[in-house]
Amino acid sequence: MKGIILAAGAGSRLYPASIPISKILLPVYDKPMIYYPITTLLLAGIKDILIITSPYDVDNFKKVLKDGSDIGVKFSYAIQEIPKGIAESFIIAQDFIGNSPVALVLGDNIFHGFGFSSMLKEVGKRTKGATVFGYQVQDPERFGVVEFDKNNRAISIEEKPKNPKSNYALTGLYFYDNNVVEYAKSLKPSDRGELEITDLNKIYLKNNALTVEILGRGFAWLDTGTFESLLQAANFVQSMEINTGMKIASIEEVAFRMGFISKERLYSLSQKYKQNGYGKYLEKICAQN
Ligand code: DAU
Repeated sequence: MKGIILAAGAGSRLYPASIPISKILLPVYDKPMIYYPITTLLLAGIKDILIITSPYDVDNFKKVLKDGSDIGVKFSYAIQEIPKGIAESFIIAQDFIGNSPVALVLGDNIFHGFGFSSMLKEVGKRTKGATVFGYQVQDPERFGVVEFDKNNRAISIEEKPKNPKSNYALTGLYFYDNNVVEYAKSLKPSDRGELEITDLNKIYLKNNALTVEILGRGFAWLDTGTFESLLQAANFVQSMEINTGMKIASIEEVAFRMGFISKERLYSLSQKYKQNGYGKYLEKICAQN
C-alpha cells in the first residue's frame, strides 16, 4: 500500500498566519501539522509516502521531512500547481502509485482515538474496493455527507449538501484499490471547478465497493481550518499529552513502535531535540523499551 498526503492548498482562511509558510507546516502544539497525517499513514503500515504540495512550499516540506530515511520510511514530493480538487491527487500520483492500492490523507486532518491503530492496521491490508471513515458532526453541511439505510449500509454521499441527509461527515482519510487512478481520470470538474473526492467515492458506492468505517463517540477528528479550531486542536493535544504523559503523533515514536527504526536510531533522533520536552520524551521511550 502506498500513501499520499495532500498539502497543496493555499490555506488562505488562515492568512496572515499562513502567508509565510504552508498551513500544513504550522505547529499544532509541539509539532508541525503534517506530523499528524504522517502518523496516520505509518500506523496503517504505509512506508512509501508521496507529499503533494504547492510549488511555493515544496522546499519547506523537504527541509522538515527530507527523504524519510531518518525514520525508516520513504518520502517523495510532487507538485499541484493549482488546487484543482482532492481527486486530482491520483492523477498527479499515477506513476508513484503504479499497481498498488493507495491511501490518501488530507494534510490538515488530525485523528486521535482508542482503537484507531488496530482499525488502520486492518484497513491497510485491504486491496479491493474503497474504505472511508464517517464521523458524527454538528455541521455536516461543511463536509462530504454519507447517508445510511436501516442496516447501516451507505446509500448516498453528497458534497456539502444544503440539506444533509445525516450528521455523518466523511473525514479526509481514504483507502482505495488500484482502480482509483482510472476512476479519477474519468471525473469531470464540479460546479466549483474541482475534481471532487466525493464523486470518486460515489463511483465505489455505485459499484457496491465502498466500506464506511464509523469513528465513534470517544474519537477525536479535529478541524484546523480557522484560527479558533487551530488553537482548539493545539489545546486538545496539549491537554491529552499532559494528562497521559504520552505524545500524540510523534513520527519518531510511531516509527519505532511500528518496527521501522531501532532503539539506537530513536535515541540518536532524540538528541536533535535534547534541550526540550520533545527530545526528553523520545529519550524516555528509549529507556522504557
Ligand atoms: O476534511 C474532510 C472534508 O475534506 C470532506 O468531508 C469533504 O468531502 C472534502 O471535499 C474536503 O472538504 P474541504 O472543504 O475540507 O476541502 P478543502 O477544499 O478545504 O481541502 C482540504 C485540504 O486539502 C486543504 O488543506 C487544502 C487541500 N487541497 C484541497 C484541494 C481542493 C489541496 O491541497 N489541493 C486541492 O486541490
